[in-house]
Parts: sequence; C-alpha cells; structure tokens
Amino acid sequence: MFDGIGDPGLTPVTVTHSPTRPMSGTGSGDRVKVVVTGGTGLLGRSVVDRLLEAGHEVRVLSRNPSGAPASLGEVQLCRGDLRDPTTLPDALSTAEVVVHCATDPRSASDVDVTGTANLVRAMHTVGVGHLVHVSIVGVDRVPMRFYRAKRQAELIVEQQPVPWTVQRATQFYPFLDRMLTRLARLPIIACPRGLRFQPIAVEDVAARLVQHVSSGPSGMAPDLGGPEVLSQKELATTWLRAHDRRRLLVPVPLPGTIGRAFRDGGNLCPDHASHGMTWREYVAAAGGVGAAR
Ligand SMILES: NC(=O)c1ccc[n+]([C@@H]2O[C@H](COP(=O)([O-])OP(=O)(O)OC[C@H]3O[C@@H](n4cnc5c(N)ncnc54)[C@H](OP(=O)(O)O)[C@@H]3O)[C@@H](O)[C@H]2O)c1
Repeated sequence: MFDGIGDPGLTPVTVTHSPTRPMSGTGSGDRVKVVVTGGTGLLGRSVVDRLLEAGHEVRVLSRNPSGAPASLGEVQLCRGDLRDPTTLPDALSTAEVVVHCATDPRSASDVDVTGTANLVRAMHTVGVGHLVHVSIVGVDRVPMRFYRAKRQAELIVEQQPVPWTVQRATQFYPFLDRMLTRLARLPIIACPRGLRFQPIAVEDVAARLVQHVSSGPSGMAPDLGGPEVLSQKELATTWLRAHDRRRLLVPVPLPGTIGRAFRDGGNLCPDHASHGMTWREYVAAAGGVGAAR
C-alpha cells in the first residue's frame, strides 16, 4: 500500500496491494506486452514503431482512438484519459510494461502530475511490473512551471511501489523546428544570449526507451542528449540556410532566474551526448531546401 506522494499540491492516492504480474521476459529478444501512453504523439509513435520492430506486443492508450494516426493501423488502441482513473485499469489489464510518453504542457498539473499518479495507482492495482517514464533534462534545475510539474511527476514515479525507470531527454528536433518556423514568421529573430540547446532525434530517444523495456527497471537512467550543443543563433542559422530564408538575428538578454538556469546550461547534458543524427542532417531530412550546404 502507498498513500500520498510526498509532494505539495498533489492529491494523495491510496491503493491496495496487488502482486506484480510476472513479465514474460526481460532479456533482449523476449516478447513483452507493452502499453504506450501518448502513443499517438511525437515520441510515442516512434516508440510504438520500435517496439513492434523488436517483436513486442503493443497497445496504445489514447483519449481519442478513432482520431489516431493511420500509421498506428495495426496497433490495438484503448480509450483512456489519465485525468480519469476509472478509464485506466481496462487499458492496462494485460500490460507487463508501460512506456509513459503522454504529456500536456498546457495542463501539466492535471495530465503530467495527477495523471501520472493515476497511472501508477492503476498499474499497481492491476499488477504491471515496470513503468518507463519520460522526462526532460534539467527539470530539477530550470525553474519553469512546466519543468516543476515534470519534476513532481518524477517524484511520484520514484516514490511509488511499481518498479520504474525514468529517462530524461533534451529537446526533440521537431520541437525546435516548430519553434523556428514560428519565429521565422517575423523579419527579426531574437536570439537570447547564452541560450543553448542539445537537441536530439526522436528516434534516438525512442530506441533508448525500448532498451529499457527489454532490460528491466533501472531507476534514474543517465540523461540522454543530442550529439551537439548549439546556441539558438547557430540553430537558427542552419535552419534559415536550409530553408533559403533571410532573417535578422538579434542578440537579446536572457534575464531572471530562468534565464540564469539556461545560461548555466541547466537544460544540457554534454556528458551524455548521443552519436545520432545532427541538427543539420535533421533539417535536411525534414525538407530544408538547401540543408546540405
Ligand atoms: N517534445 C520535446 O522536445 C521533449 C523533450 C524531452 C522530453 N519530452 C517528453 O517526452 C514525452 C513525449 O513528448 P511529445 O512531445 O512526444 O508529446 P506530444 O507529441 O505532445 O504527445 C502528447 C501525447 O499525450 C497524450 N495525452 C495528452 N493528454 C492526455 C490525457 N489526458 N490522457 C491520455 N493521454 C494524453 C496525447 O494522446 P491523445 O491525444 O491520443 O490522447 C499525445 O499522444 C513527454 O513526457 C515530454 O515531456 C519531450
């Protein structure tokens, strides 16, 4: 039994103990029954692809299975909303592992925090043996509201009885691609001084999560970041060149405590850089017109 998560602002949860469902195997090559929350999202879709490639049995939890991307055609979709605990046990009924990719930055306290508490309670009730939880590098260093919620979710995972792995990752390439697409609507792009990113290919993060499914619970996993640390100006320069656009890049200050955390590299993990696709390669593959230059 566990009650309460020990973190302010979170509704305490109380669960009765259930024996953990034995996993059919944790060695690589074993077929595992996996539920992916957020399996319709950016990371989740890639996780689903890799789980299927690895021979696992996959179910996706979604609020709206009928609106799921066609690429999930052969995957079983289960209706469930992390905010509504009554919808979760059925979706999890056969699972041995849950890969938890669901998120909603606009409603993080309901989805990322309370939703994660609801998820772990349901997992414990039905006896799921391993939670692979996705988080963001620097959630304990950058004092943004969303990052605080992500850290609260990590604490929930760490303090409950279902065996767990937490994998933090840096920003995904499509996230920065979308950010620059928005910024490039104006003739001037503000580049905060000292703001750097270490972006990574979604596929590299998905591959690491699938390794966790095979290797079993390992607690707080080493951070995972992309191969290069790049300033926003460097990211924008590559992106603009690839899209054959010209914008004025204007340095601006990065003030406040959040600014200092970014300037200090709180969002980076240079000691845990992947060897995967670079930003330039991503931009070229994503359709930049002259990205190879
Ligand atoms: N994006 C990044 O750059 C980045 C970087 C590092 C870490 N991460 C982390 O990686 C994970 C995946 O991020 P992402 O960018 O791939 O997310 P995303 O594309 O925005 O997808 C979010 C998913 O969450 C699901 N969802 C939202 N609210 C839900 C609810 N109430 N109940 C059930 N499912 C719900 C959605 O599924 P339905 O709409 O089908 O219900 C959707 O599939 C998150 O933990 C995120 O914090 C992201």
